[in-house]
Amino acid sequence: MQLLENLKWRYATKKFDSNRKVSDTDLQKIKEAVSLSASSYGLQAYKVLIIENDEIRKQLQPASWGQSQIVDASQLIVFCNYTEVGPNVIDEYLTLKADTQNLNIDDLKGYGDFMKSKIGSLSPEAMKTWTAKQTYIGLGNLLAACAELKIDACPMEGFEADQYDQILGLTEKGLSTSVIATIGYRSEEDVTQNSKKVRKPIDELFDII
Ligand SMILES: Cc1cc2nc3c(=O)[nH]c(=O)nc-3n(C[C@H](O)[C@H](O)[C@H](O)COP(=O)(O)O)c2cc1C
Repeated sequence: MQLLENLKWRYATKKFDSNRKVSDTDLQKIKEAVSLSASSYGLQAYKVLIIENDEIRKQLQPASWGQSQIVDASQLIVFCNYTEVGPNVIDEYLTLKADTQNLNIDDLKGYGDFMKSKIGSLSPEAMKTWTAKQTYIGLGNLLAACAELKIDACPMEGFEADQYDQILGLTEKGLSTSVIATIGYRSEEDVTQNSKKVRKPIDELFDII
C-alpha cells in the first residue's frame, strides 16, 4: 500500500531548505486534497490561508514560539475555523448542493431545518470547538498529499492563536486560527529526518471489541 510507504517517509520537519519552493502545480494538488476532505454535514466551516509573504511570516514567527519553520518553509498554511455557523451558512450550503447535484432546493428544507436546529443548539464555545475539529481532517489530508508528492511538512500547534488572529485580521472575519502547517523541502542539516518513528505498538493502540 503506497499510503503506508508515504506515511513512513514523512516526518515532522524541523528545518526546511529556505531556497526550495513548492511548485504551483503541486500546490494546486495539495489544495484539492484539502478541499476534498470530509466535513461535518459537508459545510467546510473553515478557511485555509496560504502564506508566502516574508514580512507577514516574520511577524508570525515570534507568535509561533520562534520556530524556524515559519520563515524557512516554502509556504505557511494556516487553518482557520469559523467561530459561528448561522442559518445563512446552512442556506448557502443548501444552494450550492442543489446547484451542484441538480436538486430542487425546496426538497432540502427538512434537512436544512434539522441542521439549523442541531447546530443552533450548540453553545458558542461548543460551536468553535466543533468547527476547529473539522480543520484537523484537512490537516491530515494535507500531510498525506504532501507525503505522496515528496513534499515535506510540519503540522504545528506551537503558536499563539490570539496573536495569529490579530496579525492576520481574522477576528473581524469571524475566523480563528486552529492549527497550522509548514510545507516545503527538508534541509540536509535536519537531523530529525534520521530519527526512527516513535509509535506505540499497534496492539496497544487498538482494541477489538
Ligand atoms: C497537532 C500537532 C501539533 C504539532 N505541533 C508541532 C509544533 O508546533 N512544532 C513541531 O516542530 N512539531 C509539531 N508537531 C509534530 C509532532 O511532534 C510529530 O508529528 C510527532 O512527534 C510524530 O512525529 P512524526 O510526525 O515525525 O512522525 C505537531 C503535530 C501535531 C499533529
